[in-house]
Amino acid sequence: TKKHSITTLVMHLKTLHQADLNNKKVLLRADLNLPVSKGQVTDLTRLNELAPTIHYLLKQNAKVAICSHFGRPDGQNDPKYSLSQIIDVVKQVLGVEVVFIEDCIDSKIPEILDNLRNNQIVLLENTRFYSSEEKNDTKFAEKLANPFDLFVNDAFGAAHRAHASTVGVAEFLDSYAGRLIEKEIQAMSPLLDQSKIQKPLTLIVGGAKIDTKIGVLKNFIGKADYILIGGALANTFLLAEGFNTGKSLVEKDKVEIAQEILLLAEKEGTKILIPGDSVLANQISPDAQTVDLPVEDITDDMMILDIGRLTAREYSAIVHKSGTVILNGPMGLYEMPPFANGTKHLFEEIAKAKATTILGGGDTIDALNKFKLDPNSFNHISTGGGAMIEFLEGKTLPGIEVLLT
Ligand code: 3PG
Repeated sequence: TKKHSITTLVMHLKTLHQADLNNKKVLLRADLNLPVSKGQVTDLTRLNELAPTIHYLLKQNAKVAICSHFGRPDGQNDPKYSLSQIIDVVKQVLGVEVVFIEDCIDSKIPEILDNLRNNQIVLLENTRFYSSEEKNDTKFAEKLANPFDLFVNDAFGAAHRAHASTVGVAEFLDSYAGRLIEKEIQAMSPLLDQSKIQKPLTLIVGGAKIDTKIGVLKNFIGKADYILIGGALANTFLLAEGFNTGKSLVEKDKVEIAQEILLLAEKEGTKILIPGDSVLANQISPDAQTVDLPVEDITDDMMILDIGRLTAREYSAIVHKSGTVILNGPMGLYEMPPFANGTKHLFEEIAKAKATTILGGGDTIDALNKFKLDPNSFNHISTGGGAMIEFLEGKTLPGIEVLLT
């Protein structure tokens, strides 16, 4: 009975306004899987986006414990993946005091919750320190849920995972969506509704792997007017079209799928564009010598590391005539200056576009930060990587399914 069309999801979502929170013990699932480099959190988007939910819960006089995964510790208690390393940023960004508990199912949790002071929240250690988490083990979910009165899920980034802390606990607790999940659904479900979308619709897909993007590409064939391909993903499409890709990263076993996608698009009237020129080098290094060549001139010793200047210009022109632009993934190896220009140019143009613009994915956000682009120049930046992709595939994500009436 819980099957709803994805376009009407928001109408069926149980939201915080419907919950009686006064003095209630709330288990809040967040996605605190923040990007960390050399011990430093490199992007705060996910935490910033969690703030409205925390503040609302505290204002309603709830006692809040946050649980989350962090990295992929494979069921081991591994200090490298401890959430203790982000306590300080959690305090700063959320403006709360944090009581950290080293075990997400510690028997002391009820007592600690009872004694929480105003403006104090509990942060529970990484749920993935238990292998039962990813198995969505019912007994583990019950233990996790046990000290609480209510479950609030605000982990949009993990909503495509059917784990104990995203799905299992909902069997034991009355469950509601947090403000971030609500916002993500509000921003992205119209993209799946032909009657609401402002046309032309352009989907831009980059990043390394075709595997994770096949579903979204297929779902937008027939819906999108244009699909623009970049990143290493484009190399496999170039190979499928018979170009020499030299030493570039390609997925040889995915060439047939790429061909299938190209054929399907032709049949359904969606224009798929692949790069006509590329930035090439024979080594991946910050001081590599690069050339920008038409793709038919790529030789065996070269690697494609960015879209070329003409391609960036062509893609930008399409962005400017679009009513809606959805982007997931960078156009090249944006982390290194010689290969950053394609992504940078295109992102700057999207920032200026009149279209409704929706961006997402960890690398996309990292690139926005590197290029110092103002997040407010886009209509929506999704905190989901895989979750955004699966949402746009038209799937009802398991972590959202349990929050519906
Ligand atoms: C993400 O960063 O995309 C989410 O936190 C999910 O992480 P996972 O891919 O390890 O499940």
